[in-house]
Amino acid sequence: MPGRVIAIDGPAASGKSSVSRGVAERLGFLFVSSGHFYRAFAWGAARDGISPEQAPFWITGRKLEVRRDASGVSLLLDGENATPHLSEATTASMVSPLAAVPSVRDAVNARLRALTAEHDLVMEGRDIGSVVLPDTPWKFYLDASPEERARRRAKEGAVDSVAERDRLDSTRATAPLTIPEGAIVIDTTHLDLEGVIEAVLGRLNAEGLR
Ligand code: CDP
Ligand code: CDP
Repeated sequence: MPGRVIAIDGPAASGKSSVSRGVAERLGFLFVSSGHFYRAFAWGAARDGISPEQAPFWITGRKLEVRRDASGVSLLLDGENATPHLSEATTASMVSPLAAVPSVRDAVNARLRALTAEHDLVMEGRDIGSVVLPDTPWKFYLDASPEERARRRAKEGAVDSVAERDRLDSTRATAPLTIPEGAIVIDTTHLDLEGVIEAVLGRLNAEGLR
């Protein structure tokens, strides 16, 4: 029987990964960041000097292995651990243009859907509840003001063009960032992390998940 899936979508720095990790820990589900899959390919494309136009040819030769580890899953691209490179500035600037390429999305989606065969999941991203796993009954959309999201990233010391990624992610033709049908929307601007985790768990409880 396929596992249960909690889908958490939203723009950059809305709190998706921290909240998803917390919810997964509390429920004993596996935490999966779909953004890591796009970032692993973005790191490889930057390494190989590949433009988004060349990506459809390049992606077919790539081997992306998914391994379970203490923090959820880790990714090996062509046998090399991608994890240390996921937050690098070159990866961050490449990721949204690459994620707009339909064949790249197909490659990621196939790997994400395969994970549901073996695990109960909390999976976060931009299109989990709308495109990747739209049949799950448990969907959330986290948001926060652009100023608050930029402040959160700056506090992490990350070099990241949050506003530019938002623009690209929301305007692309394939699977743009959108509020999935049936998703519960939570504005996290004035909530701390624990407050959001509690809000999500409370709704899941009300919906009969636990
Ligand atoms: O953590 P943050 O929200 O900043 O980004 P991320 O989740 O690591 O995603 C990095 C980029 O991958 C996003 O800006 C999107 O361009 C892309 N992405 C996507 O297109 N679809 C997803 N389901 C997840 C990420
Ligand atoms: O995954 P996403 O890019 O949506 O966001 P994140 O990486 O989970 O969160 C970005 C930063 O905001 C982290 O340092 C979180 O601890 C922080 N955060 C916060 O201050 N308040 C929240 N309600 C959620 C996240």
